[in-house]
Amino acid sequence: MSLTVIVLAAGAGTRMRSARPKVLHAIGGRSLLAHVVGAARALSPDQLTVVVGHGRDEVSAHLAAVDDAARPVVQQQQRGTGDAVRVALAASASTTGTVLVMAGDSPLLSSSTLAALVAGRERDSAAVTVLTAVVPDPTGYGRIVRAAAAAAADLGPLVGIVEQREATPAQLAVTEINSGVYAFDGAALPGLLAPLGSDNAAGEVYLTDTVAAAVAAGKRVTALRTPDPLEVEGVNDRVQLAGLGAELNRRTVTAWMRAGVTVVDPATTWIDVDVRLAADCTLLPNTQLHGATTVDVGATVGPDTTLDGVRVGAGASVVRTHGSGAVVGADATVGPFAYLRPGTVLGVGGKIGTFVETKNVQIGDGSKIPHLTYAGDATIGVGSNIGASSVFVNYDGVHKHRTMIGDHCRTGSDTMFVAPVNVGDGAYTGAGTVVRRDVPPGALAINVAPQRNLDGWVGRYRPGTAAASAAANTRDRSGQPDGGGPDGGGPDGSPTAVP
Ligand code: UD1
Ligand code: CA
Repeated sequence: MSLTVIVLAAGAGTRMRSARPKVLHAIGGRSLLAHVVGAARALSPDQLTVVVGHGRDEVSAHLAAVDDAARPVVQQQQRGTGDAVRVALAASASTTGTVLVMAGDSPLLSSSTLAALVAGRERDSAAVTVLTAVVPDPTGYGRIVRAAAAAAADLGPLVGIVEQREATPAQLAVTEINSGVYAFDGAALPGLLAPLGSDNAAGEVYLTDTVAAAVAAGKRVTALRTPDPLEVEGVNDRVQLAGLGAELNRRTVTAWMRAGVTVVDPATTWIDVDVRLAADCTLLPNTQLHGATTVDVGATVGPDTTLDGVRVGAGASVVRTHGSGAVVGADATVGPFAYLRPGTVLGVGGKIGTFVETKNVQIGDGSKIPHLTYAGDATIGVGSNIGASSVFVNYDGVHKHRTMIGDHCRTGSDTMFVAPVNVGDGAYTGAGTVVRRDVPPGALAINVAPQRNLDGWVGRYRPGTAAASAAANTRDRSGQPDGGGPDGGGPDGSPTAVP
């Protein structure tokens, strides 16, 4: 049977108090709309229509990015959910088969629940099958109204849905609520919508009134009750956004643990829905994995690490690191306190160590940048070691330039690579070298000025300081640990002062 999906997303979302349309707020790394459209798309519908209104340009552009086969249809004025479905049908090619209607703000709805709702309607040949749930606090939801049951153990037949504002005190006490998700018989739906008016407390066309209309017309109406009320919970404000975000994360983390991932502290581990993890990787506390991050077999990430779109190779270790758009090779180590920026590619068994920032740099297998370094716009060969405290001076104030470093180089501490510059295979640089010209393979580059010692300068120009007195009483430290040398005392043989 053919399937048409209509997602209602034209409302203002006033309670979010946001300049951004409600359905574009995100949990688990995806907008609310992307969650809903993704669940619906999994049913492979023949048509998928999204009714847009408030923020229609932004919502339509986002929709095109997440599902270019989905079609936005504009509802000019938000006259209610019934009107929104009318607008969608008017823009649709045909209305045979099943029409699945759902709201754009229920991000936890699963495709399996949607499929069960569609299958239930088709099995029952119902004009409409409503997805319902029993919730602890039904305030604000439409209540499910049932007639008396034939047998005490049965649920009575569905006869209507009454909105909060129109409900009698007895109806308000009902805890079975309308999820806002319905499977309609496409052939019957236009006839059910046609007579609906807006003579109600909200002055809106209620889609919910189609249920009583179908009952009055003698058509079959059924309900599917989901055992998981959180699946149908909608986001109306930012408190619910955070609540459902945490719930989604609990479900995501739980699923990964069941799939063989060690998560030491699920409460402080955040994993976006698009992240992919291999079995036997380990996530330590306070780890946040965002976007298209992947972690391969046996790798360890965390503690205190945030990665967005980072690929971590098998057996690698990433500790106390902030990274985005980077690749960490198998068995490589990163951190603690590393900052990986986009375009960083660390080879197999390589190292990006402590207080190191990298950007747009390819680091060959086994190469290391262990300490206190900025490496940007560079290619480093295999087996090279970049000395502590080096800077890849890539920016001349106008343009960025590249540094090329060969295989098995050993560059000294505090080397400045003033790009564009090439360091040949197997070359060395001395500590403190400012590399402005290319270094040939196998050469040692040094350009430090000769050192001058101005003897007695401290005593003359900083008299009375601790430095001056230490200089005056200088000790021979060649014999550890008491400071006295093998010959005892200071350079002039006098007893050494103990500080
Ligand atoms: C609706 C249901 C209620 C149900 C609840 C579930 C009606 C009358 N009530 O109430 O029974 O328990 O959902 O969450 O349907 N929308 C449009 N165009 C409009 C009006 C709304 O596209 O003119 C969209 C909204 O953007 C939203 C969805 O329809 O995504 C539901 O609208 P909303 O105003 O949130 O309905 P509720 O009051 O929550
Ligand atoms: Ca709602």
